[in-house]
Amino acid sequence: METVKLNNGVEIPLIGYGTFKVDPNDTERCVRDAINVGYRMIDTAQFYANEQQVGSAISGCGIPREELFLITKVWMNHGDEKGVSRSIDESLHKLKTDYVDLLLVHHPFGDYYAIYRALEKAYAEGKTRAIGLSNFYDARFVDLVYHSEVVPAVNQLETNVFSQQNFMRDQLNRSNTCLMSWGPMGQGKNDFFNHQVLKSIGEKYGKTPSQVGLRFLIQQGIPVIPKSVNVQRMTENMNVFDFMLDDADMEIIRGLNINDKGTRDFNDPIYAEKIVSQVF
Ligand SMILES: NC(=O)c1ccc[n+]([C@@H]2O[C@H](COP(=O)([O-])OP(=O)(O)OC[C@H]3O[C@@H](n4cnc5c(N)ncnc54)[C@H](OP(=O)(O)O)[C@@H]3O)[C@@H](O)[C@H]2O)c1
Repeated sequence: METVKLNNGVEIPLIGYGTFKVDPNDTERCVRDAINVGYRMIDTAQFYANEQQVGSAISGCGIPREELFLITKVWMNHGDEKGVSRSIDESLHKLKTDYVDLLLVHHPFGDYYAIYRALEKAYAEGKTRAIGLSNFYDARFVDLVYHSEVVPAVNQLETNVFSQQNFMRDQLNRSNTCLMSWGPMGQGKNDFFNHQVLKSIGEKYGKTPSQVGLRFLIQQGIPVIPKSVNVQRMTENMNVFDFMLDDADMEIIRGLNINDKGTRDFNDPIYAEKIVSQVF
């Protein structure tokens, strides 16, 4: 498995399996299938309500724990730092492991400084091999870096051919924070799976639009976590390491960038209210 090195030396696989919106009743089967087809990184979150099932899948899969890369994300409803620390212990319990490989603050809402301090504590205690953020844009990202002890190793942002995050990449490079892609196939929006440009580039290599779109990201060292409940599509999405897009193709795909911020604007008060009101 190809990896990239995070700012603390930990190696993160370039591809993993995403579990958002995987029904908890189907999660154990899906994660097992994903591991069987070769995924070694699994992305979950407290909010996805499937950590327990991810834990069952990884603990019984026969792959040694140290060969897996497990990510979870902390939600914003745990009160103070102690409450957040307790929630991290609960996540580890559900995941049936005594450490995760990467622990993220899920959203830049609530008391995310307290959440991040609890992550720093968990990191110092060996409960996670790296810590980072998710959905932190612009000034919020810079301010958190400035006011923290541990520089975030990762910022997981919506990143795909339509949202290439060029502005944030420059910000992240300044602290050597790795951009990681969620929604690497744009959740199918903008006709991603039938996109004419991705299709015609793919024909040159015998690859599908999803493989071209994922390859575009990993070829730039951006780890991706495509989600599928279907084993054929899981396999398709994994098969992106046996071809290389040439410079002309990369340039054409760069031209597909239409909305650098992605589909969710974390500076939008209406969106913030929607997220925050789910939990408080
Ligand atoms: N940090 C965050 O706030 C955040 C937010 C969202 C997501 N994430 C993480 O990122 C992961 C991936 O993002 P995502 O699930 O939102 O979107 P995505 O991976 O871009 O797209 C998933 C969608 O594409 C379909 N699909 C997958 N492979 C396909 C293929 N080869 N051909 C046709 N359709 C295909 C899936 O349907 P089927 O399942 O039916 O195949 C599903 O509807 C999540 O699962 C989660 O782990 C993080």
